[in-house]
Amino acid sequence: MPRDYRTFMKNILIPEEELQARVTELGAQISHDYRDKGRLLLLCILRGGVVFLTDLMRKIHIPHEIEFMAVSSYGTGVYQSSGQVRLTLDLRTSIEDANVILVEDIIDSGHTIASVLAMLSERHPKSLAVCALLDKAERREVFVPIRYVGFSIPNEFVFGYGLDIDEYYRNLPFIGTVDLEKFKTP
Ligand code: IMP
Ligand code: MG
Repeated sequence: MPRDYRTFMKNILIPEEELQARVTELGAQISHDYRDKGRLLLLCILRGGVVFLTDLMRKIHIPHEIEFMAVSSYGTGVYQSSGQVRLTLDLRTSIEDANVILVEDIIDSGHTIASVLAMLSERHPKSLAVCALLDKAERREVFVPIRYVGFSIPNEFVFGYGLDIDEYYRNLPFIGTVDLEKFKTP
């Protein structure tokens, strides 16, 4: 069983109302930008992007499809991306004629999304853009073009609203920061 998150949470970084308001804005922006542009596909990267996707799609008022893919990083430290990414679940539709928006929870070093973008470009989508709920820009190691950003956040480990801490607490409606010292202490 996981510990009660209140024993290691530092503070609530983004409350539920702020998340919902921003997601509504992003949905309106995407609906505007992709109106009359043809097939729109929201491609969610599992699992962190799931909560964001399901809220975002309900704020997009133009026809669109959703799809999922999963990747995992090779040989990572606990909170460190190695830069090497492997596809563990591929999508089942062709994206050749689609305007694809990649829906991600957070861009940290940028390695994950950079690899996914490279992989998907080879399939020649009509267009390819990134929509990330959170951007931890200070940690970036490779350049990633991000068209839509929910919030820029400081270099802190966060959880909730799709993001996990050791696979738990994705269900929380807010984004909280972790006190890593408290988290490591049993
Ligand atoms: P990147 O390849 O370093 O950009 O790592 C991106 C992935 O690492 C995200 O999709 C998350 O799954 C995970 N990640 C990075 N920072 C955090 C965090 O603060 N909390 C939870 N997961 C994170
Ligand atoms: Mg992720």
